[in-house]
Amino acid sequence: MATLTINPAGSTFEFTAGQTLLSALLAAGAVIGHKCEGNAKCGSCHLFLTEGRKSVTKTTPAENAKLDELVGVGSKSRLACQVTLGEENVTVELLKL
Ligand code: FES
Repeated sequence: MATLTINPAGSTFEFTAGQTLLSALLAAGAVIGHKCEGNAKCGSCHLFLTEGRKSVTKTTPAENAKLDELVGVGSKSRLACQVTLGEENVTVELLKL
């Protein structure tokens, strides 16, 4: 088990490696969009992955293509539905819906 820290609230939850970041966030009760249900098509699960980026799966071409269409994207941007969690702690910054 590793820890997921969700900012700006600063709440923490445990997750199991191998699950998606989106599923971990939803299990933790986080308010995050997921209109396309994890298919990298809507961009509503966009967030900033601020810590633990090396322990998760790399950005896929489909994720990159969708991120290119979004406003407010930065170097730490990810689509939560496309991130598979590893063994290390991660911290995310949720965006306003
Ligand atoms: S849920 Fe639609 S892009 Fe992640």
